[in-house]
Amino acid sequence: MANSSIVNSWSDHNCPISKESISMSTAAPQLIPAAISARKNAYAPYSKFLVGAAVITEDGTIFTGTNVENASYGLTICAERIAAGAAVAAGHRKIMAVAVATTGAASPCGACRQFLAEFGGAMLVYLVDADKPDRIVETSLDKLLPAQFDLKI
Ligand code: THU
Repeated sequence: MANSSIVNSWSDHNCPISKESISMSTAAPQLIPAAISARKNAYAPYSKFLVGAAVITEDGTIFTGTNVENASYGLTICAERIAAGAAVAAGHRKIMAVAVATTGAASPCGACRQFLAEFGGAMLVYLVDADKPDRIVETSLDKLLPAQFDLKI
């Protein structure tokens, strides 16, 4: 990832979120290629929209996921939730950062934002255009999902 640059602007995303100024985390050079690589296994025969995700836990372990679609469309699971679920299933409950690789550097859906928030409300988020992996948007989950739901029990 030596030639990668972080684009801290949302202008290409037509998104009203203000400019970010977070520096690239040390995890990004591993996390971003992991998301791009995972995307190759995406199972998306219906939408044809391939998504790869990678999360990194507190101890630096990386887990990946892809979207997994279903003939009963509503059963589809997003890549981010597969990746976070894999981390949790392996005993990790704190996610420091997530990278999501798609065509056009799409941002996680609302459901995935809330799902990820369970395991790190302020985690870094890297949006990767799989066709232009040298250009990455960095933001954070608390910016993408302010006022996160938290069950007060
Ligand atoms: N998808 C994800 O994997 N992550 C998201 O955050 C949004 C959407 C998938 C679901 C479906 O397989 C395809 O992208 C098109 O919606």
